[in-house]
Amino acid sequence: MTAPKDRSSILRRCSNLYCLGIGMICALAVWATTPIDTTWAQNQSDPPPPTKAEGNAQTGKVLFEIHCVTCHGTKGRGDGLEIAGATVADLSSPTTQRKLNADLLATIHEGRPGKVMPSWKYRLSKAQSIDLLAYIRTLGK
Ligand code: HEC
Repeated sequence: MTAPKDRSSILRRCSNLYCLGIGMICALAVWATTPIDTTWAQNQSDPPPPTKAEGNAQTGKVLFEIHCVTCHGTKGRGDGLEIAGATVADLSSPTTQRKLNADLLATIHEGRPGKVMPSWKYRLSKAQSIDLLAYIRTLGK
């Protein structure tokens, strides 16, 4: 037979539990009533995407007329190869203009294998590609 527990110790343990309970309820109440800052996410602004090119659009235009008009057309609308029935990207379209410099440069460098767009990395210098990109950016306006 175990000795009956000391009454006062049981009481003490109960009051400890009671305090813990009250404490948790208080903490919950503080947490629940703290206003949520919904503007936080909106204030974490990203830097604007680089959609303005640094290159020389004048030089780019000359290069474009030599290398790109055959497919992309004089205004880059993608109407150069129309007769051949190929679908060429309209470089003046919002779809293209919304793309980042890095993505467009990658397409110019690597081309789109299997999609007619040739790779230019062995034919054009990096600076020339950036000039072309600067010219492409003027087409969207
Ligand atoms: C032989 C035809 C051809 C030539 C020449 C050509 N392109 Fe293209 N280009 C294409 C086609 C076709 C596409 C669309 C590919 C696709 O649908 O994925 C394209 C896509 C692109 C895109 C991607 C557009 C986008 O919205 O992602 C860029 C940028 C581009 N060309 C730039 C150039 C530049 C600059 C030149 C000249 C140096 C050039 N192209 C020459 C056929 C050509």
